[in-house]
Amino acid sequence: MTQKDKFTRLESKMKEAEQGGGEQRIEKQHKAGKKTARERIMDLVDPGTFIEIDKLVTHQTHDFEMDKKKIAGDGMVTGYGRVDGRLVYLFAQDFTVFGGTMSRSNADKVVKIMDLAVKMGAPVIGLNDSGGARIQEGVRSLAGYADLFYRNVRASGVVPQISAILGPCAGGAVYSPALTDFILMVDQSSYMFVTGPDVIKTVTHENVTKEDLGGAMTHNSQSGVAQFVAENDEQAMMMLRELLSFIPSNNLEDPPYKKPTDDPLRTDEQLQDLVPDDPNKPYDIKELITSVVDDHHFLEVQPFYARNIVVGFGRLNGYTVGITANQPAHLAGCLDINSSIKAARFVRFCDAFNIPLITFVDVPGFLPGTQQELGGIIKHGAKLLYAFSEATVPKITLITRKAYGGAYDVMSSKHIGADINLAFPGAEIAVMGPEGAVNILYRDLDEEKRLKAVDEYKEKFANPYRAAELGYIDEIIFPKDTRKKLIEALDMTRNKNFGNLPKKHGNIPL
Ligand code: HXC
Repeated sequence: MTQKDKFTRLESKMKEAEQGGGEQRIEKQHKAGKKTARERIMDLVDPGTFIEIDKLVTHQTHDFEMDKKKIAGDGMVTGYGRVDGRLVYLFAQDFTVFGGTMSRSNADKVVKIMDLAVKMGAPVIGLNDSGGARIQEGVRSLAGYADLFYRNVRASGVVPQISAILGPCAGGAVYSPALTDFILMVDQSSYMFVTGPDVIKTVTHENVTKEDLGGAMTHNSQSGVAQFVAENDEQAMMMLRELLSFIPSNNLEDPPYKKPTDDPLRTDEQLQDLVPDDPNKPYDIKELITSVVDDHHFLEVQPFYARNIVVGFGRLNGYTVGITANQPAHLAGCLDINSSIKAARFVRFCDAFNIPLITFVDVPGFLPGTQQELGGIIKHGAKLLYAFSEATVPKITLITRKAYGGAYDVMSSKHIGADINLAFPGAEIAVMGPEGAVNILYRDLDEEKRLKAVDEYKEKFANPYRAAELGYIDEIIFPKDTRKKLIEALDMTRNKNFGNLPKKHGNIPL
């Protein structure tokens, strides 16, 4: 064989790998509204930066005449590239090759990527589109999945891990994405479930569609399994890029700094009227959030789930912050099971990756009711308390209106380690609201006396001054100055150096 022949051989092998399952299957993929694994990667990374590795790996199975069916790459594209110039590791299941199923060989490719990512300190992004465990490989495929699960856990809190679900993801296969930090699903073309509609019908006689059981909106609005939904593959990749722009590459780095053009001293007169005079009137806390962050740009995480709490990323004077805010426009901003879990997970992500926490508080308390109590609001609410208490990143809290009862303590209060606690002049900080308090303190008052007692209580407790006198609130600020005040506080905490006590790990109430 001449050198030229050898080069040609390499070229043809590369081409074979790049063709994946061939034109027909690629066409089928496109007809289903989906892009191929390689097309998705090209949309995700900076042009010309993707370096594929293990392109020529094939499976090693002989059963079911598989030795006659080998395709270079084996249904998994792996490698590394750059997003906004920053290194990321990627694996993308290629549905056109054996349905993107997991074989021993392609699991090893992912293992290699994940090990490299942890060693180099860069995020791992998985683009999932697969029929699951490759049936012909039996337990070797299951072993491959378990190797991934193990690495997902080892890497958790060390490098960010993000999953995009761009097609089927069923059975135990769901547990790799479930162990990662964020799950993004594409509407109408992706689904995730442990047991599918057919099995459910056999076992429980329930009729349910794939979409209702495990579609993107199901997991974004009902189960809370996913954090983001995209309209199509292309938008999904753009959303991944945006998410990455806020987070550091690993737990030893600070989040990327984006030189701001927005004035740190910018005030907003409209905020003076944001909180209504009537304490029972709702308002949209997102107006405050978008007013104060740089360029009014806020990336909301899980916008469709537990809408009584808002979480997401923004920047203040160029620095990433993680924002958690009670939402008075939904369930009056009460804390309940779902919102506690949603916020706790977000707070823990931010803490793991050095992202300061900004907390906006307007909470009348925990949602009352048997559903909540029997559902375990005690242990689930404790998750949020635990997460805020455990977090050692800079913590800045602003009470915009109500901060009642246990929820006051939970929402990043001074007592659980917040560094700066601010309040608007209209803040109400007390054990409970005036009506409830008077009903308990004076059970048998006639209406006139009761109203008087309510007024007295309001005068005494429905303001931030008691808390300010005790030093639980560091400063009472005008709403229009919120951005400036948060940036000041954030600047002050820049070199925070504070850790938890040495231990193997804590025991968050699961
Ligand atoms: C081997 C598989 C496969 C599998 C699909 N294929 N799933 N090959 N093992 N698990 C192959 C098909 O034979 C076909 O090959 C190609 O992939 C595309 O599949 P189609 O069925 O033609 O595509 P489509 O009609 O779009 O249906 C996709 C699908 C369906 C819904 C995913 O294929 C399906 O239901 N597959 C089985 C899914 C499943 O039950 N997997 C096990 C889940 S449990 P050809 O050569 O014809 O193109 C699991 C356990 C993980 O994964 C455990 C971890 C601990």
